[in-house]
Amino acid sequence: MSLLLLFLFNVFINVRTHGNTEIRIQSGISVYVRVHFCTYSTRCSSPLWKNIIPFEVIPEFPFVFEEYFTRPTLPNVIFTISIYDINDEEPLGLEQIVVPLTRHFSNFTVHTKNDSFLHFAVRNVCDENWRTHSCSIFCKDRSDSKFKCDDDDGYKCAPGYSGPNCDKVDCPFNCHNHGSCEVPGKCMCSQGFFGTYCEYCKPSTTCKHGAVLVNELGCHPYTCRCFEGYAGDNGDKDDVCYYAKPCRHGNCVSNVTVSGGFECICPKAFGGRRCEKRIARWDCSDEGYCQNKGVCSFVDGISRCRCAVGFTGKHCERKTAKTCLKKKCREGFICIIDNKKTGTMPCFNYSKTSSPSGSHARRTFSTS
Ligand SMILES: *[C@@H]1O[C@H](CO)[C@@H](O)[C@H](O)[C@H]1NC(C)=O
Ligand SMILES: *[C@@H]1O[C@H](CO)[C@@H](O)[C@H](O)[C@H]1NC(C)=O
Ligand SMILES: *[C@@H]1O[C@H](CO)[C@@H](O)[C@H](O)[C@H]1NC(C)=O
Ligand SMILES: *[C@@H]1O[C@H](CO)[C@@H](O)[C@H](O)[C@H]1NC(C)=O
Repeated sequence: MSLLLLFLFNVFINVRTHGNTEIRIQSGISVYVRVHFCTYSTRCSSPLWKNIIPFEVIPEFPFVFEEYFTRPTLPNVIFTISIYDINDEEPLGLEQIVVPLTRHFSNFTVHTKNDSFLHFAVRNVCDENWRTHSCSIFCKDRSDSKFKCDDDDGYKCAPGYSGPNCDKVDCPFNCHNHGSCEVPGKCMCSQGFFGTYCEYCKPSTTCKHGAVLVNELGCHPYTCRCFEGYAGDNGDKDDVCYYAKPCRHGNCVSNVTVSGGFECICPKAFGGRRCEKRIARWDCSDEGYCQNKGVCSFVDGISRCRCAVGFTGKHCERKTAKTCLKKKCREGFICIIDNKKTGTMPCFNYSKTSSPSGSHARRTFSTS
Protein backbone atom coordinates (compact mmCIF):
# COMPACT_ATOMS: atom_id res chain seq x y z
CA MET A 1 0.00 0.00 0.00
CA SER A 2 2.72 2.47 0.92
CA LEU A 3 4.34 1.80 -2.44
CA LEU A 4 1.13 2.64 -4.20
CA LEU A 5 0.70 5.83 -2.23
CA LEU A 6 4.24 6.85 -3.04
CA PHE A 7 3.70 6.29 -6.69
CA LEU A 8 0.40 8.05 -6.97
CA PHE A 9 0.79 11.11 -4.81
CA ASN A 10 4.34 11.72 -3.73
CA VAL A 11 4.41 11.44 0.06
CA PHE A 12 1.99 12.64 2.70
CA ILE A 13 3.77 12.65 6.02
CA ASN A 14 1.23 14.70 7.94
CA VAL A 15 -1.73 12.49 7.29
CA ARG A 16 -2.46 11.13 10.75
CA THR A 17 -5.89 9.60 10.56
CA HIS A 18 -7.76 7.73 7.87
CA GLY A 19 -11.21 8.31 9.30
CA ASN A 20 -13.45 7.34 12.14
CA THR A 21 -15.97 4.69 12.94
CA GLU A 22 -19.27 6.29 13.84
CA ILE A 23 -21.78 4.52 16.04
CA ARG A 24 -25.23 6.08 16.43
CA ILE A 25 -27.75 4.80 18.95
CA GLN A 26 -31.38 5.82 19.18
CA SER A 27 -33.39 4.38 22.03
CA GLY A 28 -37.11 4.16 22.64
CA ILE A 29 -36.57 4.39 26.41
CA SER A 30 -33.96 5.75 28.76
CA VAL A 31 -31.38 3.05 29.44
CA TYR A 32 -27.76 2.46 30.25
CA VAL A 33 -25.79 0.87 27.45
CA ARG A 34 -22.37 -0.74 27.48
CA VAL A 35 -20.83 -1.56 24.11
CA HIS A 36 -17.77 -3.67 23.32
CA PHE A 37 -16.72 -3.54 19.74
CA CYS A 38 -13.88 -4.70 17.57
CA THR A 39 -12.75 -3.20 14.29
CA TYR A 40 -9.15 -4.47 13.99
CA SER A 41 -8.05 -8.05 13.83
CA THR A 42 -5.32 -7.42 16.42
CA ARG A 43 -7.93 -6.32 18.91
CA CYS A 44 -10.59 -8.91 18.22
CA SER A 45 -8.63 -11.76 19.77
CA SER A 46 -8.10 -9.79 23.00
CA PRO A 47 -10.75 -9.61 25.74
CA LEU A 48 -10.01 -5.88 25.94
CA TRP A 49 -11.99 -4.86 22.95
CA LYS A 50 -12.75 -1.24 22.62
CA ASN A 51 -15.11 -0.72 25.50
CA ILE A 52 -17.45 2.25 25.56
CA ILE A 53 -17.99 2.88 29.26
CA PRO A 54 -21.65 2.64 30.29
CA PHE A 55 -23.55 5.65 29.09
CA GLU A 56 -27.08 6.82 29.23
CA VAL A 57 -29.23 6.93 26.14
CA ILE A 58 -32.40 8.93 26.27
CA PRO A 59 -35.15 8.87 23.65
CA GLU A 60 -34.89 12.59 22.90
CA PHE A 61 -31.32 12.56 21.53
CA PRO A 62 -29.45 10.03 19.51
CA PHE A 63 -26.19 9.02 21.10
CA VAL A 64 -23.20 9.38 18.76
CA PHE A 65 -19.84 7.79 19.39
CA GLU A 66 -16.80 8.21 17.13
CA GLU A 67 -13.54 6.34 17.16
CA TYR A 68 -10.63 7.55 15.07
CA PHE A 69 -8.52 4.97 13.34
CA THR A 70 -5.22 5.11 11.51
CA ARG A 71 -5.21 1.60 10.20
CA PRO A 72 -7.73 0.07 7.79
CA THR A 73 -10.70 -1.37 9.63
CA LEU A 74 -12.03 -4.90 9.22
CA PRO A 75 -14.83 -5.45 6.71
CA ASN A 76 -17.11 -6.36 9.62
CA VAL A 77 -17.45 -5.01 13.13
CA ILE A 78 -18.27 -7.25 16.10
CA PHE A 79 -20.48 -5.78 18.83
CA THR A 80 -21.36 -7.00 22.29
CA ILE A 81 -24.15 -4.82 23.65
CA SER A 82 -25.45 -4.84 27.23
CA ILE A 83 -28.55 -2.81 28.16
CA TYR A 84 -29.50 -1.98 31.74
CA ASP A 85 -32.43 -0.40 33.49
CA ILE A 86 -31.58 3.20 34.30
CA ASN A 87 -32.85 2.97 37.87
CA ASP A 88 -31.93 -0.41 39.30
CA GLU A 89 -29.27 -1.49 36.76
CA GLU A 90 -31.34 -4.59 36.06
CA PRO A 91 -30.17 -6.12 32.74
CA LEU A 92 -32.72 -5.50 30.00
CA GLY A 93 -30.81 -7.16 27.17
CA LEU A 94 -27.56 -8.67 26.00
CA GLU A 95 -26.79 -9.11 22.34
CA GLN A 96 -23.78 -10.00 20.19
CA ILE A 97 -23.94 -8.99 16.57
CA VAL A 98 -21.64 -8.77 13.52
CA VAL A 99 -22.41 -6.13 10.89
CA PRO A 100 -20.59 -4.88 7.77
CA LEU A 101 -18.40 -1.86 8.38
CA THR A 102 -18.46 0.33 5.26
CA ARG A 103 -18.80 3.94 4.25
CA HIS A 104 -22.57 3.40 4.34
CA PHE A 105 -24.69 2.91 7.45
CA SER A 106 -25.25 -0.61 8.69
CA ASN A 107 -28.41 -0.40 10.80
CA PHE A 108 -29.71 -2.95 13.25
CA THR A 109 -32.15 -3.02 16.14
CA VAL A 110 -31.73 -4.58 19.58
CA HIS A 111 -34.92 -5.38 21.45
CA THR A 112 -35.14 -5.11 25.22
CA LYS A 113 -36.88 -7.49 27.63
CA ASN A 114 -39.83 -5.16 28.15
CA ASP A 115 -40.62 -4.71 24.43
CA SER A 116 -38.70 -1.54 23.82
CA PHE A 117 -35.85 -1.15 21.30
CA LEU A 118 -32.50 0.48 20.47
CA HIS A 119 -31.61 1.36 16.88
CA PHE A 120 -27.95 1.15 16.02
CA ALA A 121 -26.31 2.68 12.94
CA VAL A 122 -22.62 2.10 12.19
CA ARG A 123 -20.38 3.41 9.42
CA ASN A 124 -16.90 4.62 8.62
CA VAL A 125 -16.49 8.31 7.86
CA CYS A 126 -13.25 8.67 5.95
CA ASP A 127 -11.03 11.71 6.21
CA GLU A 128 -10.84 13.86 3.12
CA ASN A 129 -9.43 12.02 0.11
CA TRP A 130 -9.29 8.70 1.91
CA ARG A 131 -11.15 6.07 -0.08
CA THR A 132 -12.50 2.51 0.14
CA HIS A 133 -14.88 1.27 2.82
CA SER A 134 -12.02 0.86 5.30
CA CYS A 135 -10.54 4.29 4.36
CA SER A 136 -7.31 2.59 3.38
CA ILE A 137 -6.34 4.41 0.17
CA PHE A 138 -5.48 8.06 -0.10
CA CYS A 139 -6.42 9.40 -3.52
CA LYS A 140 -6.59 12.99 -4.67
CA ASP A 141 -7.92 13.72 -8.14
CA ARG A 142 -5.62 15.54 -10.49
CA SER A 143 -6.59 16.96 -13.85
CA ASP A 144 -3.65 15.41 -15.71
CA SER A 145 -4.27 12.07 -14.13
CA LYS A 146 -4.20 8.58 -15.58
CA PHE A 147 -6.46 7.52 -12.72
CA LYS A 148 -9.74 8.71 -11.19
CA CYS A 149 -10.40 8.50 -7.50
CA ASP A 150 -13.27 6.22 -6.51
CA ASP A 151 -14.76 6.28 -3.01
CA ASP A 152 -15.54 2.57 -2.93
CA ASP A 153 -12.56 1.13 -4.85
CA GLY A 154 -9.94 3.77 -4.03
CA TYR A 155 -9.23 4.68 -7.61
CA LYS A 156 -10.02 3.59 -11.13
CA CYS A 157 -7.81 3.90 -14.18
CA ALA A 158 -8.87 6.59 -16.63
CA PRO A 159 -10.13 5.28 -20.00
CA GLY A 160 -7.18 4.11 -22.08
CA TYR A 161 -5.04 3.22 -19.08
CA SER A 162 -4.74 -0.01 -17.16
CA GLY A 163 -2.50 -1.94 -14.82
CA PRO A 164 -2.09 -1.68 -11.06
CA ASN A 165 -0.45 1.74 -11.42
CA CYS A 166 -2.64 2.87 -14.34
CA ASP A 167 0.52 3.45 -16.34
CA LYS A 168 -0.14 0.90 -19.05
CA VAL A 169 -1.48 2.63 -22.14
CA ASP A 170 -4.12 0.71 -24.05
CA CYS A 171 -4.66 0.67 -27.81
CA PRO A 172 -7.25 -1.37 -29.71
CA PHE A 173 -5.97 -4.76 -30.91
CA ASN A 174 -2.68 -3.94 -29.19
CA CYS A 175 -1.70 -2.33 -32.53
CA HIS A 176 -1.66 -5.85 -34.03
CA ASN A 177 1.77 -6.24 -32.41
CA HIS A 178 3.21 -4.04 -35.12
CA GLY A 179 3.39 -0.78 -33.28
CA SER A 180 3.67 0.89 -29.91
CA CYS A 181 0.93 2.51 -27.90
CA GLU A 182 2.05 5.71 -26.22
CA VAL A 183 -1.22 7.66 -26.24
CA PRO A 184 -4.46 5.80 -25.43
CA GLY A 185 -6.06 4.54 -28.62
CA LYS A 186 -3.26 5.84 -30.87
CA CYS A 187 -0.82 3.43 -32.42
CA MET A 188 2.66 4.38 -33.51
CA CYS A 189 3.29 1.82 -36.22
CA SER A 190 6.66 0.19 -36.71
CA GLN A 191 8.57 0.65 -39.92
CA GLY A 192 6.72 -0.97 -42.79
CA PHE A 193 3.30 -1.00 -41.13
CA PHE A 194 0.44 1.45 -41.35
CA GLY A 195 -3.27 1.86 -40.62
CA THR A 196 -5.06 3.22 -37.53
CA TYR A 197 -4.14 0.09 -35.61
CA CYS A 198 -1.17 -0.95 -37.78
CA GLU A 199 -3.36 -3.49 -39.53
CA TYR A 200 -1.66 -3.07 -42.91
CA CYS A 201 1.88 -3.53 -43.97
CA LYS A 202 3.43 -1.65 -46.81
CA PRO A 203 3.83 -3.55 -50.07
CA SER A 204 6.99 -3.12 -52.08
CA THR A 205 6.83 -0.04 -54.29
CA THR A 206 7.30 -2.25 -57.32
CA CYS A 207 4.28 -4.38 -56.43
CA LYS A 208 2.19 -4.26 -59.56
CA HIS A 209 -0.80 -6.51 -58.97
CA GLY A 210 -0.74 -7.18 -55.27
CA ALA A 211 -1.01 -5.83 -51.75
CA VAL A 212 -0.07 -6.92 -48.25
CA LEU A 213 -2.42 -7.28 -45.30
CA VAL A 214 -1.08 -7.67 -41.78
CA ASN A 215 -3.66 -10.20 -40.69
CA GLU A 216 -2.76 -12.61 -43.41
CA LEU A 217 -0.26 -15.20 -42.42
CA GLY A 218 3.29 -14.49 -43.43
CA CYS A 219 2.96 -10.78 -44.07
CA HIS A 220 6.29 -9.08 -44.37
CA PRO A 221 6.51 -5.40 -45.14
CA TYR A 222 7.87 -4.40 -48.53
CA THR A 223 6.86 -7.67 -50.10
CA CYS A 224 4.08 -8.17 -52.60
CA ARG A 225 1.24 -10.59 -52.21
CA CYS A 226 -0.06 -11.09 -55.70
CA PHE A 227 -3.71 -10.75 -56.55
CA GLU A 228 -5.41 -13.79 -57.99
CA GLY A 229 -4.01 -14.67 -61.40
CA TYR A 230 -0.69 -12.92 -60.83
CA ALA A 231 2.62 -14.28 -59.75
CA GLY A 232 6.19 -13.24 -59.11
CA ASP A 233 7.84 -10.98 -56.55
CA ASN A 234 6.10 -7.94 -57.97
CA GLY A 235 2.80 -9.47 -59.02
CA ASP A 236 3.65 -8.69 -62.63
CA LYS A 237 3.68 -12.19 -64.08
CA ASP A 238 0.83 -14.47 -65.05
CA ASP A 239 -0.01 -17.15 -62.55
CA VAL A 240 0.25 -20.34 -64.60
CA CYS A 241 -1.47 -22.32 -61.90
CA TYR A 242 -4.47 -20.02 -62.09
CA TYR A 243 -4.82 -20.01 -65.86
CA ALA A 244 -3.42 -23.31 -67.07
CA LYS A 245 -4.08 -25.63 -64.12
CA PRO A 246 -1.12 -27.77 -65.20
CA CYS A 247 -1.06 -30.29 -62.34
CA ARG A 248 -3.06 -33.44 -63.06
CA HIS A 249 -3.04 -34.43 -59.40
CA GLY A 250 -1.80 -32.50 -56.42
CA ASN A 251 -1.38 -28.82 -55.80
CA CYS A 252 0.04 -26.27 -58.15
CA VAL A 253 2.49 -23.72 -56.73
CA SER A 254 3.29 -20.73 -58.81
CA ASN A 255 7.06 -20.19 -58.99
CA VAL A 256 8.34 -17.85 -61.66
CA THR A 257 11.95 -18.90 -61.05
CA VAL A 258 11.41 -22.41 -62.42
CA SER A 259 10.82 -23.06 -66.08
CA GLY A 260 7.14 -23.03 -66.92
CA GLY A 261 6.47 -20.90 -63.85
CA PHE A 262 4.92 -23.61 -61.69
CA GLU A 263 5.66 -26.62 -59.53
CA CYS A 264 3.32 -29.49 -58.76
CA ILE A 265 3.23 -30.86 -55.25
CA CYS A 266 2.19 -34.46 -55.84
CA PRO A 267 0.38 -36.75 -53.44
CA LYS A 268 2.26 -39.92 -52.53
CA ALA A 269 0.89 -42.14 -55.24
CA PHE A 270 1.75 -39.73 -58.05
CA GLY A 271 4.91 -38.50 -59.64
CA GLY A 272 6.16 -36.63 -62.64
CA ARG A 273 6.40 -32.93 -63.36
CA ARG A 274 2.63 -32.60 -63.47
CA CYS A 275 1.85 -35.41 -61.04
CA GLU A 276 0.53 -37.30 -64.03
CA LYS A 277 2.18 -40.67 -63.28
CA ARG A 278 0.72 -43.12 -60.88
CA ILE A 279 3.93 -44.29 -59.23
CA ALA A 280 2.94 -46.77 -56.59
CA ARG A 281 0.13 -47.82 -54.41
CA TRP A 282 2.37 -47.40 -51.43
CA ASP A 283 5.56 -45.66 -50.62
CA CYS A 284 8.39 -47.45 -48.87
CA SER A 285 10.38 -44.36 -48.02
CA ASP A 286 8.89 -44.02 -44.57
CA GLU A 287 11.22 -45.07 -41.81
CA GLY A 288 10.77 -48.69 -40.74
CA TYR A 289 8.86 -49.65 -43.85
CA CYS A 290 11.69 -51.75 -45.32
CA GLN A 291 12.93 -54.05 -42.59
CA ASN A 292 16.07 -56.11 -42.07
CA LYS A 293 18.34 -53.59 -43.79
CA GLY A 294 16.13 -53.46 -46.86
CA VAL A 295 16.46 -50.31 -48.98
CA CYS A 296 13.54 -48.40 -50.43
CA SER A 297 13.89 -47.67 -54.11
CA PHE A 298 11.84 -46.34 -56.95
CA VAL A 299 12.15 -48.32 -60.14
CA ASP A 300 10.13 -47.17 -63.11
CA GLY A 301 8.04 -45.09 -60.79
CA ILE A 302 7.29 -48.05 -58.55
CA SER A 303 8.18 -47.87 -54.92
CA ARG A 304 9.60 -51.12 -53.59
CA CYS A 305 11.86 -52.45 -50.85
CA ARG A 306 15.10 -53.97 -52.08
CA CYS A 307 15.77 -56.63 -49.48
CA ALA A 308 19.13 -57.66 -48.06
CA VAL A 309 20.36 -61.18 -48.88
CA GLY A 310 18.37 -63.84 -47.09
CA PHE A 311 15.21 -61.76 -46.75
CA THR A 312 12.07 -61.40 -48.79
CA GLY A 313 8.54 -59.98 -48.62
CA LYS A 314 6.99 -56.58 -49.25
CA HIS A 315 8.72 -55.23 -46.16
CA CYS A 316 11.68 -57.71 -46.28
CA GLU A 317 10.09 -59.17 -43.20
CA ARG A 318 10.58 -62.88 -44.05
CA LYS A 319 13.71 -64.98 -44.28
CA THR A 320 14.13 -66.90 -47.48
CA ALA A 321 14.12 -70.72 -47.41
CA LYS A 322 17.50 -70.57 -49.09
CA THR A 323 18.96 -69.17 -45.91
CA CYS A 324 17.43 -71.98 -43.95
CA LEU A 325 18.89 -74.64 -46.21
CA LYS A 326 22.34 -73.29 -45.53
CA LYS A 327 21.84 -73.82 -41.85
CA LYS A 328 23.45 -77.01 -40.51
CA CYS A 329 21.12 -79.15 -38.41
CA ARG A 330 21.88 -82.38 -36.58
CA GLU A 331 21.28 -85.78 -38.18
CA GLY A 332 17.53 -86.40 -38.35
CA PHE A 333 16.70 -82.66 -37.94
CA ILE A 334 15.66 -80.14 -40.53
CA CYS A 335 15.51 -76.32 -40.62
CA ILE A 336 12.05 -74.80 -40.85
CA ILE A 337 11.50 -71.07 -41.13
CA ASP A 338 9.17 -70.01 -38.41
CA ASN A 339 7.69 -66.73 -39.63
CA LYS A 340 5.25 -66.65 -36.81
CA LYS A 341 8.19 -66.12 -34.52
CA THR A 342 9.71 -63.24 -36.46
CA GLY A 343 11.64 -65.39 -38.89
CA THR A 344 13.67 -67.56 -36.52
CA MET A 345 15.10 -70.74 -38.01
CA PRO A 346 14.90 -73.60 -35.52
CA CYS A 347 15.98 -77.15 -36.33
CA PHE A 348 13.17 -79.68 -35.90
CA ASN A 349 13.14 -83.43 -35.39
CA TYR A 350 11.53 -84.45 -38.67
CA SER A 351 10.56 -87.87 -37.45
CA LYS A 352 7.98 -86.19 -35.24
CA THR A 353 4.59 -86.14 -36.87
CA SER A 354 3.28 -82.66 -36.19
CA SER A 355 4.79 -79.47 -37.48
CA PRO A 356 6.15 -77.44 -34.59
CA SER A 357 4.59 -74.13 -35.42
CA GLY A 358 1.63 -74.93 -37.59
CA SER A 359 0.70 -74.52 -41.20
CA HIS A 360 2.40 -71.18 -41.73
CA ALA A 361 5.88 -72.54 -41.06
CA ARG A 362 5.18 -75.62 -43.13
CA ARG A 363 3.86 -73.60 -46.06
CA THR A 364 6.89 -71.32 -46.07
CA PHE A 365 9.14 -74.31 -46.21
CA SER A 366 7.29 -76.15 -48.94
CA THR A 367 7.02 -73.23 -51.34
CA SER A 368 10.75 -72.63 -51.45
C1 LIG B 1 -39.12 -0.74 29.98
O1 LIG B 1 -38.36 -0.56 31.14
C2 LIG B 1 -37.90 0.79 31.36
C3 LIG B 1 -36.99 0.79 32.54
O2 LIG B 1 -37.48 -0.04 33.53
C4 LIG B 1 -39.08 1.68 31.50
O3 LIG B 1 -38.66 3.01 31.70
C5 LIG B 1 -39.95 1.62 30.28
O4 LIG B 1 -41.10 2.36 30.42
C6 LIG B 1 -40.32 0.18 29.98
N1 LIG B 1 -40.95 0.17 28.68
C7 LIG B 1 -41.98 -0.63 28.35
C8 LIG B 1 -42.51 -0.50 26.98
O5 LIG B 1 -42.47 -1.37 29.19
C1 LIG C 1 -29.67 4.02 9.15
O1 LIG C 1 -29.47 4.91 10.21
C2 LIG C 1 -29.09 6.23 9.85
C3 LIG C 1 -28.76 7.01 11.10
O2 LIG C 1 -29.75 6.90 12.04
C4 LIG C 1 -30.20 6.87 9.02
O3 LIG C 1 -29.81 8.15 8.59
C5 LIG C 1 -30.46 6.00 7.82
O4 LIG C 1 -31.56 6.50 7.09
C6 LIG C 1 -30.76 4.57 8.23
N1 LIG C 1 -30.86 3.75 7.07
C7 LIG C 1 -31.78 2.84 6.89
C8 LIG C 1 -31.72 2.06 5.63
O5 LIG C 1 -32.65 2.67 7.69
C1 LIG D 1 10.90 -21.64 -56.45
O1 LIG D 1 11.85 -22.50 -56.98
C2 LIG D 1 13.16 -22.31 -56.51
C3 LIG D 1 14.07 -23.23 -57.30
O2 LIG D 1 13.61 -24.58 -57.24
C4 LIG D 1 13.20 -22.60 -55.03
O3 LIG D 1 14.50 -22.37 -54.50
C5 LIG D 1 12.20 -21.71 -54.32
O4 LIG D 1 12.14 -22.03 -52.95
C6 LIG D 1 10.83 -21.85 -54.96
N1 LIG D 1 9.93 -20.88 -54.39
C7 LIG D 1 8.78 -21.23 -53.84
C8 LIG D 1 7.96 -20.10 -53.33
O5 LIG D 1 8.37 -22.38 -53.78
C1 LIG E 1 13.06 -87.59 -32.77
O1 LIG E 1 11.69 -88.01 -32.68
C2 LIG E 1 11.54 -89.41 -32.62
C3 LIG E 1 10.05 -89.76 -32.67
O2 LIG E 1 9.34 -89.05 -31.70
C4 LIG E 1 12.22 -89.91 -31.36
O3 LIG E 1 12.14 -91.32 -31.30
C5 LIG E 1 13.69 -89.49 -31.36
O4 LIG E 1 14.30 -89.86 -30.13
C6 LIG E 1 13.81 -88.00 -31.52
N1 LIG E 1 15.21 -87.62 -31.61
C7 LIG E 1 15.80 -86.68 -30.79
C8 LIG E 1 17.24 -86.48 -30.99
O5 LIG E 1 15.14 -86.08 -29.91
